[in-house]
Amino acid sequence: MGSYGNLARRALETEMPIMVKMQELLRGATNAVSLAQGVVHWQPPKQALEKVKELVWEPSVSRYGADEGLPELREALKKKLHHENNLQKSSVMVTAGANQAFVNLVLTLCDAGDSVVMFAPYYFNAFMSFQMTGITNILVGPHDPITLHPDADWLEKILSETKPTPKLVTVVNPGNPSGTYIPDPLLKRISDLCLKAGSWLVVDNTYEYFMYDGLKHSCLEGNHIVNVFSFSKAYGMMGWRVGYIAYPSEVEGFAAQLLKVQDNIPICASIISQYLALHSLEMGPEWVTERVQSLVKNRDIVLEALSPLGEGSVKGGEGAIYLWAKLPDGHTNDVEVVHWLALRHGVAVIPGSACGSPGNLRISFGGLTENDCKAAAEKLKRGLEELVRDGLV
Ligand SMILES: Cc1ncc(COP(=O)(O)O)c(C=O)c1O
Repeated sequence: MGSYGNLARRALETEMPIMVKMQELLRGATNAVSLAQGVVHWQPPKQALEKVKELVWEPSVSRYGADEGLPELREALKKKLHHENNLQKSSVMVTAGANQAFVNLVLTLCDAGDSVVMFAPYYFNAFMSFQMTGITNILVGPHDPITLHPDADWLEKILSETKPTPKLVTVVNPGNPSGTYIPDPLLKRISDLCLKAGSWLVVDNTYEYFMYDGLKHSCLEGNHIVNVFSFSKAYGMMGWRVGYIAYPSEVEGFAAQLLKVQDNIPICASIISQYLALHSLEMGPEWVTERVQSLVKNRDIVLEALSPLGEGSVKGGEGAIYLWAKLPDGHTNDVEVVHWLALRHGVAVIPGSACGSPGNLRISFGGLTENDCKAAAEKLKRGLEELVRDGLV
């Protein structure tokens, strides 16, 4: 005992979480501000918080609840899925956040040794979920260099040529880390390719309400499609840990197998958190979209700060809370640039290499109020101007 060799390969061979690395980096950078973490600056609805304050003395809140979630919340979510997402035949499981939802799905749908498909730049936690469950054959597809949309032609080829056929394809819509929205016809094509090949399609809709410039988010339903959602960003509930899975009701055994996984990880999502989710839902989607629209200003502020990188370097941002920026030629070591920006200029962003795309940066514009965002953006702009002018001095 006491040797590295006694630790599980599944953990050792999984990437270190980028956010943990960033927190370490920020501890060494005095007064650094963060445009790194994917968070929002608002708190849950006040009325909902007031209601759950009353509930803490309710004995059932301290007991275990149904594995699949509070019946009242699941009912409310079914209505929401029906009316807002046009998902008519989906069953719901409430989870401790969308990340746990994703792990549940990987454990339910994939075996160790299976191959799976995702597109770079990818969501780092999804990549890690595959790694730590023994899925070492992670086929990472390209995006269109201009739009950053997943390359469906590549997908068609890989699904038809890879034997055994990849078990699961996953996309985030709108995307983390790019903030790119997958247009409906492209999502449909990806879905059709998965259906034809016999692969699952898992769509992470964490940022469903985070759409700008008049774009509208939509979901697809089918017996090969699973949709994942989260309360974290929409309702400012990051620390309350509530997400949910909408899975096809008609697929025999899906619910039963999913329950086995759920019962061994959280048993149930925190009951008080589920009540907060229920009362937050009562505020309606307008409560969320109003706050999301206030982020347009932040996006403009950050876009301006990225201008030293030159035209065509910045992409995405039509959804979610992210912009994706290409570093100047010659700066492929994005980790080095991120350290330099934090230590010399006091601003933290995420290196693209954490998302499978070195030479880029992910900048989050959701976590700061407008004034704080301006202050952070000024630091970022100064840093990028210096980078372009003098390099890493
Ligand atoms: C695409 C995506 N999925 C899932 C999550 C995690 O969400 P949750 O807090 O619900 O686990 C995040 C958080 O950043 C995310 O960006």
